[in-house]
Amino acid sequence: MESSAIAPDVSPMPARVDGEARPVRVALLGHGTVGGSLHRLLVEHREHVRLATQRDVEVCAVLVRDADKARDGLDPDTTLVTDSLEALLATEPDVVCEAMGGIEPTRTHLLTLLDRGIPVVTANKQLVARHGTELFARAEAGGAQLRFEASVCGAVPIVRMLRESLAATRIERLLGILNGTTNFMLTAMTAHGQGYDDALADAQRLGYAEPDPTEDVEGLDAAAKLSILAGIAFGTTVDIDDVRATGITGVTAEDVAHAAVLGCRIKLVARAERLAAAGGGTTVALDVTPMLVPETHPLAAISGATNAVLVDGAPFGRLVVQGAGAGGPETASALAGDLVSVLGSEPSFLTRDPHVAHLPVAPRDARAERHYVRMQVADQPGVLAAVAGALAGTGVSIERVLQQAAGEGEATLVITTHPCAPGDLDSALANVTSSDLTVLPMLDED
Ligand code: NAP
Ligand code: HSE
Repeated sequence: MESSAIAPDVSPMPARVDGEARPVRVALLGHGTVGGSLHRLLVEHREHVRLATQRDVEVCAVLVRDADKARDGLDPDTTLVTDSLEALLATEPDVVCEAMGGIEPTRTHLLTLLDRGIPVVTANKQLVARHGTELFARAEAGGAQLRFEASVCGAVPIVRMLRESLAATRIERLLGILNGTTNFMLTAMTAHGQGYDDALADAQRLGYAEPDPTEDVEGLDAAAKLSILAGIAFGTTVDIDDVRATGITGVTAEDVAHAAVLGCRIKLVARAERLAAAGGGTTVALDVTPMLVPETHPLAAISGATNAVLVDGAPFGRLVVQGAGAGGPETASALAGDLVSVLGSEPSFLTRDPHVAHLPVAPRDARAERHYVRMQVADQPGVLAAVAGALAGTGVSIERVLQQAAGEGEATLVITTHPCAPGDLDSALANVTSSDLTVLPMLDED
């Protein structure tokens, strides 16, 4: 088995006609959950892409298995739909986005594109993990960029973070939830008592699962992602078959219940860590396995199809990133980000949109939110009624009330409100007699 070594990007983009920018011709390999979402994103967020790159993009061709199938948002007058790579190449794409998955014929297609100097962005973790070395060698030889942010953790920019933001650091350990499908299933089984098969069917219906969901539930998808991340983080080649992978197929509802009694949640955890070798030197420990994670651990709170990666190293300490780990639109955002990088951003602006000179600042009362109010009041009849009356007077609704004795003739009153404008709360409290008053806004749970 070939191992992956992630090489630096090469080739500059974009092609120009007589010094004038013309629309960039983008071809898509695959128009399913991810490819279809990317197409929609490029149409709906055309202006964002244009602002970031100074270029318009148009989708010139789409490669699919079944070219006769009806597909939303595809205009045959402007976009060729084909099952032939040669036909797609005849539309002269400037850049190709790959979201068809699988090893073959995808590998051969990408080699053809890179040999011709056509930049590629891909969401295909198995291909990058198993054939990264070969693909990057050909990309370098062809002078073409090859980017793969979307292949790991959906929308989370972990590849960019490891390759760029942490490029000058030493990374000791990566710990992550790298598969959305299994985390979604474990959450459904833990929090909602759902059965394994129903939870998997929901993950498939929502577009999280791989075309062959065995890759998700057997830990092979997470293993591919871990080998890619470990290769970048430790600057080494990683053979995906060296990742010890155990999936969640053996995890039962009984295990989930026992874990809860122990104050833990079961998560499919991917780990890559530098370890000292017995005879000196350094080894890399790599595994993907269901683990009991204490409820206080940052990974325990990661629910649904969310992914998270915890990175330990020097001198930065610890970084934790999390976000949507699967799903068409979410993954499309990472492919589009790579596409923007391939096209190259031209001028550098302080804001994303240099044409928006100034957005008016919202007044304080524009946002209604829940508030916590703590006040020291006289402990005597009518005081609570007076406070409640003052709040009612400005339309502030009470959510909860706690009262505690606080020394001779005094009480501490804690009130939480339903969402209200801060100004209404201020006006109400101005009519309340209190020796000590604290007001804090409350963050919503989501
Ligand atoms: P999908 O919905 O099954 O879509 C695959 C697309 O590729 C379909 O349009 C299919 O054509 C086309 N295709 C497949 N094999 C082909 C072949 N041999 N020749 C031509 N076209 C072919 O899969 P997906 O969920 O979008 O996943 C695609 C890739 O993205 C995979 O590498 C996956 O690992 C990766 N990914 C997925 C997610 C996610 O949340 N789904 C997240 C990150 C990365 P037809 O439409 O004609 O069948
Ligand atoms: N099947 C994958 C997952 C898609 O569930 O995480 C994202 O790579």
